[in-house]
Amino acid sequence: MYNEKVIEVFKNPKNMGDLEGANAIGTVGNVTCGDIMQMSLIIEEDIIKDAKFKTFGCVAAIAASSMATEMIIGKSINEAMQIKNSDVVDALGGLPPQKIHCSVLAEESIHEAIKNYKEKHIK
Ligand code: FES
Repeated sequence: MYNEKVIEVFKNPKNMGDLEGANAIGTVGNVTCGDIMQMSLIIEEDIIKDAKFKTFGCVAAIAASSMATEMIIGKSINEAMQIKNSDVVDALGGLPPQKIHCSVLAEESIHEAIKNYKEKHIK
């Protein structure tokens, strides 16, 4: 069902867990399956310095979360907002059609975290 890249990222996820000093947190859920993804970021001068995730979900959701953190670290918040779930899917070499929705959690959790940051820091 999953390609080798997805399995590899799932088995060795990067940036998983709590992020000490996070100043932006976004939590989203998928109403269909009930899975939850939390994205924690450290943003300094609108640049994402660090990112970690916690995902209570399936293989695709965990692989997508890990890939998403790697894609946004070092990017500006505006650049990170441009990342679509399809970009995460492409970086993973594809996901089965019935698992595409899992990658949407990654996009949404990034957006939520940045929204959270803006609410606190940009008046
Ligand atoms: Fe719920 Fe994948 S089945 S996120």
